[in-house]
Amino acid sequence: MKPLTTLSLCALTLMFIGAAQAQPVLRINAGEVAARVSPMLYGIMTEEINYSYDGGIYAEQIRNRNFKEDAKDPVHWQLVEERRGTGTMALDTATPFNDVVPASLKLTITRAAGNQRAGVANDGFWGIAVKPVTRYRAMIYAKADAAFKGPLTVAIVSNDGATTHATAQLPRLSAEWKKYELTLITGKAAPSATNRFVISAGSPGTVWFGFVSLFPPTFNNRPNGNRSDIMQLLAAMKPAFLRFPGGNYLEGRTIATRFDWKKTIGDITARPGHMNDSWRYWSSDGMGLLEFLEWCEDLHMEPVLAVYAGYSLRQVRVPFGPDLEPYVQEALEEIEYVTGGPNTKWGARRAKDGHPSPFKLRYVEVGNEDGFDQQEGSYEGRFSQFYKAIKARYPQLQVISTMKTKHPTDVIDEHYYRNSEDFMSFTSHLYDKRPRPGQKVFVGEWATRVGEPTPNMSAALGDAAWMTGMERNSDLVIMSGYAPLFVNVNPGGMQWKTNLIGYDVLSTYGSPAYHAQQMFSAHHGDVVLPIESQNVPTREWQPPAPRPRPGTPPPAIPPPTPPVQKVETLFFNATRDSKTGTIYLKVVNRASAPQPIRVEISGLKSVAAKGQAITLSAGSPDDTNSITEPNKLVPVTKTVDGLGSNFTREFPPYSITVLQMTGK
Ligand code: AHR
Repeated sequence: MKPLTTLSLCALTLMFIGAAQAQPVLRINAGEVAARVSPMLYGIMTEEINYSYDGGIYAEQIRNRNFKEDAKDPVHWQLVEERRGTGTMALDTATPFNDVVPASLKLTITRAAGNQRAGVANDGFWGIAVKPVTRYRAMIYAKADAAFKGPLTVAIVSNDGATTHATAQLPRLSAEWKKYELTLITGKAAPSATNRFVISAGSPGTVWFGFVSLFPPTFNNRPNGNRSDIMQLLAAMKPAFLRFPGGNYLEGRTIATRFDWKKTIGDITARPGHMNDSWRYWSSDGMGLLEFLEWCEDLHMEPVLAVYAGYSLRQVRVPFGPDLEPYVQEALEEIEYVTGGPNTKWGARRAKDGHPSPFKLRYVEVGNEDGFDQQEGSYEGRFSQFYKAIKARYPQLQVISTMKTKHPTDVIDEHYYRNSEDFMSFTSHLYDKRPRPGQKVFVGEWATRVGEPTPNMSAALGDAAWMTGMERNSDLVIMSGYAPLFVNVNPGGMQWKTNLIGYDVLSTYGSPAYHAQQMFSAHHGDVVLPIESQNVPTREWQPPAPRPRPGTPPPAIPPPTPPVQKVETLFFNATRDSKTGTIYLKVVNRASAPQPIRVEISGLKSVAAKGQAITLSAGSPDDTNSITEPNKLVPVTKTVDGLGSNFTREFPPYSITVLQMTGK
């Protein structure tokens, strides 16, 4: 190889200097306020998708607890025959349990004696969770014929039958439907999910079951409550609100399969449940209107109540005018159930259901994504009818529309599902360009859709870029909620790719995007500080060629490849807590190299040299968390030095940082 001369060395150095991008500078004016940060900015959105409630946050362990999931077969129930005990199991429509449960599960034990047993078993939502020294509450509605002398044994048993983790007995069954409550306590067993719930007997006869339920301890020990592990993850996000019950789940594919709130309240054994045809699985409606509200209460969130607005996904709509009136009334009654005093009809019903005090409600959303309603003017008419009726009865409420309408709206719900580069190239600056004063926006669903079942670091970086934009423009964007929130990671659990929090029956984990959200949501001030930037670095990105719509043939001439775009690799926003003086500088570095940044803060007497940095970073944008590796990427909090009103700090590759500084 030819040795390098002094001249060629100089030329090489110049080439490198020429290629390097100048150091970015962020000039923060902490003496001014660019906008107020809406206290409602960060919330959560939820619906029954990906087994979010049944098989998710709702702690019920028994699947198909009222045997309605399938009209012909008792799905998720199996016949148990041990040591040559024999029996049969079938749905029995001749012995209905109650008005809303038209069949029961009939167990006929033909041969049994002592250890020779027959019974039924439920396999739960991909297993029954066993945790050591834990108290489970079972509730069983059953009856027996005169031939059956009992007892019935109720147990949590490993799938291979080798280990009985907990057991209890029902000594004698009545000939009429009766409720039996039992406690089962596990021993010191290691946590496991490969278990089922077994009800068996060692004597012949016939037993009918109308309803079978099993709950582990719940968050705040609420009866019919939520899983503690998932609630704790949510609590760490400090969400300001909960948007429920959907999403598509609110609408259903038909009017009959909408979220019909009146069928979701009261005694759980009298709730019919319904086919969640939006996401193609059965919903027990154990997570009903009151449970949503109590979920809000437990996490100090405000409810954002979405009411059914006369449109279902299969292009089924109720014409506005007199036909729509019953649905408007249904919504007004729903609001009364939430907010009414004990002297109102529906407030009294809520009290009877166990919650005498009314809930605080400020926001009601009319429908969901009504832009999909293909009939011209349909939403226009439906929205204005709902709006007028709601405002007439509840003038204090803010009414949210799901699209632009000619009729005035208080807030518009906008949804953004994008890839990482889309969020970084255009969308993160979307609201910077909106005119002021402008229409208030609720970004009711959004996500960077990269990674499944939960987002990877690339998605978290896209999300963080987008959140800097929403936070900076929080005078317009008053609320936002990532969607979907949950996924059961078992095979068949996921209907929608890319979901914030994953779990199985035993454990749960936050995706990198969850951690990004948590960092943003739990760390911000109440005012946005103006920032001027210089030398914001970029990278080149080749957008993918547009794909033909699903079901349409590929075009004869392929569409031209879109031009290469320059995409920023640095995103930022600064807020300040006007009471404590803390400055929160959020910096997202999407580059594969560390990024030194000069930060200059004006408008304050001084900024302390010591502060705190919370950083989420990865070796690759493809890195992620999973049920087996739940903590691969988690934020790291460190005390840092060298801050002040003028400093340079290096931000790691593929990182999201919240820098907390004290200013005076
Ligand atoms: O979040 C998943 C779905 O996306 C929601 O149900 C719907 O509103 C949107 O289209």
